[in-house]
Amino acid sequence: MAILSSEKSEPLTGTVRVPGDKSISHRALMFGAVTVGETIISGLLEGEDVLHTAAAMRAMGADIERGGDGLWRVFGTGIGGLQQPAGPLEMGNSGTSTRLLIGLIGAHAITATFTGDASLSRRPMRRVMTPLEMMGAQFETAEGGRLPLTVTGPEDALSIEYRLPVASAQVKSAVLLAGLNARGTTSVIESVPTRDHTENMLRHFGVEVQVETLEDGAQAISVTGHQPLQPCAVDVPGDPSSAAFPAVAAVLREGSAIRLSRVGINERRVGLYLTLQEMGADVTFEHERIEAGEKVADILVRGSGPLKGIEVDPSRVPSMIDEFPVLAMAAACAQGTTIMTGLAELRVKESDRLLMVAEGLKACGVSLEMGEDSLTIHGTGKPPAGGALIETALDHRIAMAFLVLGGVTDAPIRVDDDAPIATSFPNFTALMNDLGMKISAVSQDS
Ligand code: S3P
Repeated sequence: MAILSSEKSEPLTGTVRVPGDKSISHRALMFGAVTVGETIISGLLEGEDVLHTAAAMRAMGADIERGGDGLWRVFGTGIGGLQQPAGPLEMGNSGTSTRLLIGLIGAHAITATFTGDASLSRRPMRRVMTPLEMMGAQFETAEGGRLPLTVTGPEDALSIEYRLPVASAQVKSAVLLAGLNARGTTSVIESVPTRDHTENMLRHFGVEVQVETLEDGAQAISVTGHQPLQPCAVDVPGDPSSAAFPAVAAVLREGSAIRLSRVGINERRVGLYLTLQEMGADVTFEHERIEAGEKVADILVRGSGPLKGIEVDPSRVPSMIDEFPVLAMAAACAQGTTIMTGLAELRVKESDRLLMVAEGLKACGVSLEMGEDSLTIHGTGKPPAGGALIETALDHRIAMAFLVLGGVTDAPIRVDDDAPIATSFPNFTALMNDLGMKISAVSQDS
């Protein structure tokens, strides 16, 4: 654990490739693990969260190897074939691993216990337990439906129709993954579209996924159980949520020009880029194409003067749910007020992100108001003073967002713990410094 400091730097330039998409990497390992035959994954994010998923799938019988060529090869057990793990599954910081695996395991006749770090042990799991109980799974948890959590799946899981009470791709995916090993057809109804990587990748593995638009505009996504998954190759695109950090860093410095190559631009993930464009940023997608069922492009970002504050469309929240910390940094430098609403989910991410962003920005001299599920930031058109030591609270995106801001403030910004960054963006400091930023480890008393 080290303190990192980010100092003011010159405009950013260069071409970089951000690490593989975290959501897609988890799914590639999980789906490969329930496929008979060899799944070959290139571009896998080798961050701690994904490595926890790999370890869990190994503990349940999948053979997973990383070759010297950087390719990951998965030999799965087949759907229904997961074995009971010998010990607890340690999930570290990873909510996605935990919630998706509760779904997958909850429809297998095995028992597994999940443990995690202090951040994950605080996060709500009832949202996945409720539909899984309807399918026949049983749970024992710490108080409030939190980790440590033990799930026991039924001999014969029941299919359900489940309307999501909260816009969550993790809950949707947990139910669909359980549906793969349930009798009959399982449907998830979502009234607000959330990321559809599970649906896209299931199709890529040869599973039939039906999507129907209902009278009220909601979508019903259905899978029929016991369809075999076909082994295939998955080429993981760069993560748009990781690309968001260099993108905002470049936007904030006039004269910057960077290219982020081969980033996923699934329309349910690009809310930040659309919002930056609305704020006046010069962000363009080039060479758009479809690879392994997902849309990818090169993202070009140029710094072209101060952004303007806007009211962010709340219907866009799910498509940029992980990007609010870094968007808040852009808003803090914009000219005028940026209003962000519909942010209740930010309170139950790796940290209470609404609180951590608000407290950190205030310490950097930013004027703002925080509501129960909203954040209003008053920018002056210039970067704030900076100079604060930010509490990271085991949250990678809080750490990276404030390091981005530190690159333009007069006084450096420090974050108190660099360790969480490795969960999603292991080479963050090196990649940002290659583009021209000045991020370095400092001693406790500096
Ligand atoms: C994810 C869904 C989102 C997101 C998380 C990854 C996924 O969580 O915040 O980082 O891979 O399905 P919610 O489903 O809780 O919104």
